[in-house]
Amino acid sequence: MNFKDKYGNTAMVAGASEGLGAAYANALAAKGFDLVLIARRWQALEVLADSIKKKFSVKIILVVCDISADDALQQIINATADTPIDFMVFNAAACYIGPFEKAPLETHLQIARLNAVSSLSFVHHFGSKMVERKRGGIIIMTSLAGFQGAGYVATYGATKAFNRVLAEGLWYEWKDLGVDVVACCCGPIDTPNFTNNNPVKASIFEPKYLVPENVVKEALDKIGKVPSFVCGRAFRVANFFMQHLLPRKTTIKFVGDGTKKMFDVSA
Ligand SMILES: NC(=O)c1ccc[n+]([C@@H]2O[C@H](COP(=O)([O-])OP(=O)(O)OC[C@H]3O[C@@H](n4cnc5c(N)ncnc54)[C@H](OP(=O)(O)O)[C@@H]3O)[C@@H](O)[C@H]2O)c1
Repeated sequence: MNFKDKYGNTAMVAGASEGLGAAYANALAAKGFDLVLIARRWQALEVLADSIKKKFSVKIILVVCDISADDALQQIINATADTPIDFMVFNAAACYIGPFEKAPLETHLQIARLNAVSSLSFVHHFGSKMVERKRGGIIIMTSLAGFQGAGYVATYGATKAFNRVLAEGLWYEWKDLGVDVVACCCGPIDTPNFTNNNPVKASIFEPKYLVPENVVKEALDKIGKVPSFVCGRAFRVANFFMQHLLPRKTTIKFVGDGTKKMFDVSA
């Protein structure tokens, strides 16, 4: 059975207007899915939808919405009406880079709302419907920052740990109910959102940034096979080393020092 026959007709990408989200949208359209694409910027969504429609014969619903808003889920339910969502990628995320105490609480709460509360709400609503229909697939984007404490991106890392653990739990609960869930755990990906922070290499041993299209390819290949995975061989090796061979304190220090250097954080 091919990928689309396995999962259904319509795929939703939450956080789709550029970078990795746009790469997911393209790849899912290439597999023949109709799309529901969500982001805050209408024009970026429209440009993406036009370019997808030139390549693939698929229907596309665009939803302009801040996914972290209290009524975001309701806005999306209204916009998609009775279109069942058969496949979902929860991609949107927010991150504050810097000393924890230098950002107001509201900044941290906003990150928690988008990355954790909204992903939970979306997975609960659309995942439960998939369980009712006995088929579906969910990819939750997460990060290597979620494998241990991550200094200077502490709240982001904590939400990404939440995403991975949520996906793994649901992988177990739903695997025999026809719904596949996977956490895609990434190191740096070459997206505008990442490069706009002007990162520098943290060390000469740091692997090359991941390419969005390769991340998507790996995620679409891994769903249904594993509860979570680290994307890219070099990052898998590095993460194995940090999680299993180094003392935890050393790993946490390595990640905090690396983030500080990468984004030129001054304490
Ligand atoms: N890039 C990396 O280095 C990296 C590393 C590890 C993990 N990840 C994970 O990969 C995913 C993608 O990250 P990315 O930074 O590379 O971004 P991206 O997929 O290139 O862009 C983020 C998308 O999400 C949308 N978005 C952001 N906030 C939103 C909101 N509140 N409501 C609706 N849409 C929103 C943005 O569109 P609008 O601005 O138009 O709303 C944009 O289309 C995230 O889950 C991230 O944690 C990224």
